[in-house]
Amino acid sequence: MYKSQDIIKKDNEFILGTYAPFEVVFDRGEGSKLYDIEGKEYVDFLAGIAVCSLGHNHKKLTKAIKQQSQKLMIASNYYYTEPRGQLAEKLIKNTHFSKGFFTNSGAESNEAALKVAKKFFNSQNKGRYKIVTCLNSFHGRTIATVTATGQEKFYKPFSPMPDWFVYVPFNDTKALKNALSDPEVGAFMVECVQGEGGVNPATKEYMTQARKLTKQNGQLLIIDEVQTGIMRTGKMYGYEHYRIQPDIITLAKGLGGGFPIGACLITEELANVIEVGDHGTTYGSNPLACKAALAVVTELQKPRYKKHILEVSDYLMHKLKNLELSDFVKEIRGLGLMVGIEFEEKISAKAVLKELLNKGVVTSTAGKNTLRLLPPLIIQKEEIDFMYDKLTQILKEYKNA
Ligand SMILES: Cc1ncc(COP(=O)(O)O)c(C=O)c1O
Repeated sequence: MYKSQDIIKKDNEFILGTYAPFEVVFDRGEGSKLYDIEGKEYVDFLAGIAVCSLGHNHKKLTKAIKQQSQKLMIASNYYYTEPRGQLAEKLIKNTHFSKGFFTNSGAESNEAALKVAKKFFNSQNKGRYKIVTCLNSFHGRTIATVTATGQEKFYKPFSPMPDWFVYVPFNDTKALKNALSDPEVGAFMVECVQGEGGVNPATKEYMTQARKLTKQNGQLLIIDEVQTGIMRTGKMYGYEHYRIQPDIITLAKGLGGGFPIGACLITEELANVIEVGDHGTTYGSNPLACKAALAVVTELQKPRYKKHILEVSDYLMHKLKNLELSDFVKEIRGLGLMVGIEFEEKISAKAVLKELLNKGVVTSTAGKNTLRLLPPLIIQKEEIDFMYDKLTQILKEYKNA
């Protein structure tokens, strides 16, 4: 019996069944490659779901973690440590934000954002309490963030849910305008590119109007950058593509490059309503996570990464666009290294995923029949070629079947 079978058996016996993992046991990674426990090599087009932007086993990141872990892992937020201020400065410098709060995950970053928004509404005393979010969005799995997530399948099993979220169709400016005209609405929370929803980029017009309307109405614009942030789209933050200034952004995933850390960045006006005791966390801001993120952000802010991401994402998009001519592919869409391939109904994205996995390419699916590509930001053209060859092989097999 293969070693992987023992591992899978134990996992299935003791791990709560909230996922249905594919039967591959990953053991180690190097750059954009993953290796399973039997030694088979895979090209990683998932990056731990948009997490390990620098790839696996990046020397600067592992060195930072090793050194800081031997120095100080945690001291609590009752005391000062150096890395958190350094990281906050790095994330905030050259932006319009003024303060940051560190968390351990995307959902917690969004929880922090929602609490800041609610405290702000209450300080205004205008009876605002509702938050508008988009259908098909994804904001996390805590009670508030899963309700913010405009997909019934995620929150329905846990109803009744908080009743202060209002959903609007994504990229529909008219519907947004209508929802924001409710005087009880205080904020609009949105992703620049709906990731879990199927890699749907927001249009320029939508985001520009979202900022304009929320500003006119005295409402907050919260952008969930958990998946789009930290260079995933080719810019430090996804909102930069739209030339707008949100009041709050949330981060996680790519921030720690594999080490769990999230953040919520807010403007001065909002920071002014937050008082000691309003929010807290045991692990958030710990020096180990902050030092890891500092290594990631310092590396990714080097100009060569921006150039590389632009080059390889163009290369990837260009190649994939050929597939739109195939009978099986409905649409290719994305921003930077966040790319979706939506298939026609006659083939299933999940079946393609499984065949790619057999052929040594790791991907994921999202939204409606869409294969999602989220490679490490260091992905090379040859690795893109490898993935593309396997994908075209699979589509050819479908055609000949
Ligand atoms: C846009 C967005 N927000 C929030 C989350 C939740 O992040 P986490 O799983 O770290 O809690 C995700 C996760 O996929 C996400 O894509």
